[in-house]
Amino acid sequence: MKDLVRMRTSLKEEIERILNEQIKMEAHSSAIYLAMAAWCDRNGFDYSAGYFYKQSEEERKHMLKIFNYVSDMGGHAISPEITNVPQDFDGFRDIFELALQQEIAVTNSINRIVGTARQLNDFATDQFMQWFVNEQIEEEYVARRAVELFDVIGEEGVGRYMIDKAIPKISYDGGAEAE
Ligand SMILES: [Fe+2]
Ligand SMILES: [Fe+2]
Repeated sequence: MKDLVRMRTSLKEEIERILNEQIKMEAHSSAIYLAMAAWCDRNGFDYSAGYFYKQSEEERKHMLKIFNYVSDMGGHAISPEITNVPQDFDGFRDIFELALQQEIAVTNSINRIVGTARQLNDFATDQFMQWFVNEQIEEEYVARRAVELFDVIGEEGVGRYMIDKAIPKISYDGGAEAE
């Protein structure tokens, strides 16, 4: 039966497997950001809480985008089981450092998928993943900028309050300054 289904799709088993892993990773990101939003809420960082709720939503959209692709290609998209979601964090700055690490890990994972797709001459998956390659430039930029604010503004006095207020205003202009 499995082979029969396989005959109806050009999606190679290896590609289906790594795309399902990416589905899981995006869902895991979504869950981590939700936990971060709750931590920020509990600790009085309301603006950052809003920022992480939004991030969490975005990661779910990323998950669905890949999920739909696997399904549309005739593959078996697997609804991911999410485990190991950290519920507590060491501090305000630590959250943003963790978020940046998470985004860098996602970028590396996406690059590996593109690499494998190219090795296997899967041009559809290669092309599909380019959206994610571009998205990660923005995601990493915003996450890196958030960490930078801790040094630029400083955490002393009203610093954390100022950082919290500045977080949702971070935006990526796609390199517009070079135009
Ligand atoms: Fe994502
Ligand atoms: Fe992300």
